[in-house]
This record gives sequence, structure tokens and C-alpha cells, in this order.
Amino acid sequence: MKIYNPLVKNKLKKAINPFVLKNYIHYKYTTLRNRFFYGKKRILRFVKIEVSKECPSKCKTCNFWRTKTLMNGEEICTKKLSFDQMKKLGRELKEIGCGIVHLHGGEPFLYPEILELIEYLKELGVYVQTDTNGLLINKKVAERFVKTGIDSISFSLDAPTRELNDFIRGVNGAYDKLINAIKLIQAADKDNKIYKNINATVSVYNIGHIDKILDVAHTLGISSVTFGNVVSFGKNVKEICDKTFGKKVGSVAYMNPDLMVKDKLLIERKIEEIKKKANNLGISVGGLFLSLSPELIISGKRRLNSICNYFLYRCIIDIYGNVYPCDFLRYPLGNIHQNSLKKILGQNFTEFYDIYRKNWKNLEICEFCCYG
Ligand SMILES: C[S@@+](CC[C@H](N)C(=O)[O-])C[C@H]1O[C@@H](n2cnc3c(N)ncnc32)[C@H](O)[C@@H]1O
Ligand code: SF4
Ligand code: SF4
Repeated sequence: MKIYNPLVKNKLKKAINPFVLKNYIHYKYTTLRNRFFYGKKRILRFVKIEVSKECPSKCKTCNFWRTKTLMNGEEICTKKLSFDQMKKLGRELKEIGCGIVHLHGGEPFLYPEILELIEYLKELGVYVQTDTNGLLINKKVAERFVKTGIDSISFSLDAPTRELNDFIRGVNGAYDKLINAIKLIQAADKDNKIYKNINATVSVYNIGHIDKILDVAHTLGISSVTFGNVVSFGKNVKEICDKTFGKKVGSVAYMNPDLMVKDKLLIERKIEEIKKKANNLGISVGGLFLSLSPELIISGKRRLNSICNYFLYRCIIDIYGNVYPCDFLRYPLGNIHQNSLKKILGQNFTEFYDIYRKNWKNLEICEFCCYG
């Protein structure tokens, strides 16, 4: 009989966290309310802060490192947020009751004060999560990172071998550096306090080997793996979005067409293999690749059967202080250099929401979204 099961422990740790639970209840509530009232009232529970737009990786699936714009085609014309401004933002978030902050990128570890920022948010009592390619994590960073009190981290690994992973991530040594970063964080996190996950993005490049990522996770003592389905859309999808809102709004982050897997039998086989292996190894698995039908995986499309509630309790803030409703609809609601977050999420949000509500069925970009 199994007496100690790290998988169950890890799942419980996440499930009973009061911020995650509150977020979940609020999500269910807004979904229900919105179904009847098309509600406009928002209570911010979750914020994604893109602490860096830049990235030392050159992933084939991603445009963060390629583009010189605000990720929606808009020219960059504002200053980056300083650490003091980040701290002010943290205090404001806390004040308005937002309990979960996701520090995102580009590569989050490129933000010079990333560790101090996590520490600060933790002192405020916020649930903090992040993701990384691991390139900038050495022993010293790993040890300090664990001491910040961070709640959750996701490591991005796209293949079980050095050659294939480095090919997809576009950088020699990406695999070794990530594996080393995971080992260093595991070693520093002696009491296993941090929720750790590996995220694999399934595409034409890695589908044939994707199940073997579970072996790597098992060797590293990681008991949660997410298999995301690659987001991949063309210029026309962005153009429809921009036209609908009358300004540059559509994200260019994953505007790389034709990366979807097209082989239905292979998809079905891999899903089976992943589920079987995960079960044998005691690893918890999730992600769109495992939950969508093969037909949807092939088309790359996943939703648009109802109005989205994402931005009724979430928002995105980029490193320049611009506030957006969600990752793909980068409608500029305002900038925290100029206004308080509370103000930004007022009037301009209503303007955005009115356009969205009337046009959501035509917003093709939402069909590719992996968030809402
Ligand atoms: C944009 S990155 C930002 C954080 C960090 N740089 C990293 O790679 O973990 C977040 C996640 O998106 C994944 N990703 C990259 N391209 C993608 C795509 N086209 N579709 C879906 N996910 C993608 C990455 O592999 C990574 O796990
Ligand atoms: S997926 Fe992450 S690591 Fe790769 S280029 Fe995009 S931001 Fe950088
Ligand atoms: S489906 Fe995605 S892109 Fe569309 S509104 Fe919701 S979160 Fe934004």
C-alpha cells in the first residue's frame, strides 16, 4: 500500500490554497452570472504581469523574442516599470483584493529585481506563480528563488532529448540549463513547499516524442505535467481582431501558422500513451492537448461557443504599464504610469466590453485562445 503519495500532496496543496479557491469560486460565479446578465461588473482576482517582453530563447512556436512591438503591433513608446512602480502596483492589487499574481514574460527571470519582487508580493500576502525557460537560473538564483516564498513555478520543456528540445527552443544548451535549473530548485526546496509543473507545448516538431517528457519529469521528481496544444494562427486572424476594435489589438505572440499536428491517429495514440504512462508513474497530467478532441487539435481551434468571462476577474499588465483585458485581446485599457489600476479598469473597460459583447462571435482569435 502507498503511504506517501507526492501527487496527492501536491494537488491538495494547490487545491486548499485560499487564493486559488477564492479565484475558482469567483470564476464559477461570474460564469453563471454572465450567462444571464452579460455582467459588466468586475472583481479583479488574478493579474498576469509581463515583467519582461524580451527573452534569451528563440522558440520556434513563439514571437516574444522576434517582435519589437507591444505584442499587438503597437509601437513601444512608454518606459518600463521600475521596481518601485512594481511595488506600488503590488500594493494596489492587494488593496483591491487581487490575490493571485502570475509573473510572466518573455522570460520573467530577465526582470532585474524578479526575486525582490516575488519577496515583496509574498510579504503582501499574495499567491505568486511564474514560468521559465530556466536559462538564467544558477545555484545562487535557485537558492534565493526558493527563499522568496514563491508558491508555484512552471518549467517549459518541449522535448525529452537535448537535440530536439534545443532545436525547438532555438538555443544550444537550453535542455541542459533547464534540467539543471529544475535540479537546483528541487535541491533548495527541501520541504517541497513550491508547486512545480513542467509545461510542454505540443506541435508538429515534438508530437512523436511527447509522452517521454513524463520520464524526464519522473527522474526529476516533478509530479505535475501540462501538455498544451500549440497556438498557431495567421495574419488574417489578427487583422479581423484589429478591424473589429478599430485599433491594433490582436496579439502577435503566437502568429506562426501551421504548427498544428495534423495526424489524427498519431494524436490519439500519443494521448493514450501519455495517460497510461502518467498513471504508471503517478504523475498528474492536464492541458488542452489531453482535453480537446483530435479534430480540434488538428484545426488548432478550441472555443467560441459562449461569451468569455476571463477579463471579468483577470487582466494583463505589460512591462510598460499598459493594461489589457487578456493575453490575446490587447485592447489598451490604460497605463499605470498615468492612472491607478482601479480607474483604468472602469470606463475604458466598459468601452472595450461593449465592442467585445457585440462582436465576440466574429473574433476568430478567440477560437485559438488557450486561456479563456
Ligand atoms: C510565452 S512563455 C513565457 C514564459 C517563459 N519564457 C517560458 O518559456 O516558460 C509561456 C509558455 O508558452 C509556451 N508557448 C510558446 N509558444 C507557444 C505557442 N505557440 N502556443 C502555446 N504555447 C506556447 C511556452 O513553451 C511556455 O511554456
Ligand atoms: S516560449 Fe518563453 S522561452 Fe520561448 S521564446 Fe517565448 S517567451 Fe521565450
Ligand atoms: S477567449 Fe481568450 S482571447 Fe478571447 S476574450 Fe477570452 S481570454 Fe481573451
